[in-house]
Amino acid sequence: MTIYARITGTGSYLPEKILSNADMEKIVDTTDQWIRERTGIEQRHIAAEDEFTSDLATAAAKNAMDMAGKTSNDIDLIIVATTTPDQIFPSTACLVQQKLDIHGCTAFDVQAVCTGFVYALGIADNFIKAGTAKCALVIGAETLSRILDWNDRTTCVLFGDGAGAAIVEASDEPGILSSHLHADGSYGDLLNVPYGVSNGLNHVLSGEAHITMKGNEVFKMAVNTLGRIVDETLEANNMSKKDINWLVPHQANIRIINATAKKLSMSTDHVVVTVNKHGNTSAASVPLALDTAVRDGRIKKGETVMLEAFGGGFTWGSALLKM
Ligand code: UT7
Repeated sequence: MTIYARITGTGSYLPEKILSNADMEKIVDTTDQWIRERTGIEQRHIAAEDEFTSDLATAAAKNAMDMAGKTSNDIDLIIVATTTPDQIFPSTACLVQQKLDIHGCTAFDVQAVCTGFVYALGIADNFIKAGTAKCALVIGAETLSRILDWNDRTTCVLFGDGAGAAIVEASDEPGILSSHLHADGSYGDLLNVPYGVSNGLNHVLSGEAHITMKGNEVFKMAVNTLGRIVDETLEANNMSKKDINWLVPHQANIRIINATAKKLSMSTDHVVVTVNKHGNTSAASVPLALDTAVRDGRIKKGETVMLEAFGGGFTWGSALLKM
């Protein structure tokens, strides 16, 4: 019998503190109008000082486990996609494992920036199809506010903190129909945090390790690349545009989202948009959007959903789901 991997529960968590565009006007030389028109963002959530990526991830995980009716004993694989781990090690996945009182299962982090959740989902799909896991907890979680330059208006208005999660279970019914994961490291300079442990630890320790982005160039690449991955995903599944019920895109910029929706000839009421409320939450953005539309009843069982993301690396990917 063929084993498939299916999403049986979703969850998310957003920190309490909200920074509106009006708040951003007090921090940098920007306007609500510029941010809304150029990005679609109205507000973003910011983690409290004592709130870490693993806390956000654990809260989202609990919500997903509740929806799927799973307890800690059921989980045999934890993958956390994050660019902002709590600490150098243990991995955020191990910290989440400890917070959920899970012992002994496989747990590791994935670093693919904004494409992280799609990568983690693709990996979980392969573990399950290979029979090495039966019930995976897949999380995207970020505290990006910690790596922003709050004096740089070209980046600090764009990002936010949050977490989203999914329970992915072995099933005899198709769930994840395909996943498509790509990267091209030659574009690393266009979007990065140029310092880390091995290169420039002094900059990290002095608080100078920030996101830098050539926004315009990233924008063009994102639109073209996401257009191509839509075609790749449809072709791999012998499907046409009309077979897709919902697009759940990475939430970086409403203009990029609309361009991908146009490529799919999809009306905007079948596109899940949360960028207005969350900003760009990197690895958390796709699962946050998915959970939003599952919980408010828009995405229903049996429907076909396309997830896609593009981010630093560059990395990009998609997954096609039967819910
Ligand atoms: O998630 C990973 C992938 N990331 C993305 O996909 C992000 C992709 N890039 C973008 O979303 C857009 O490029 C941005 C939203 C980052 C920028 O929008 P843009 O339309 O590409 O603007 P721009 O960078 O070409 O800048 C236009 C103008 C500039 O002024 P001048 O040189 O024309 O006088 C900027 O200095 O807008 C100015 N500007 C701002 N003005 C007010 C840049 N940031 C701001 C700001 N407030 N926050």
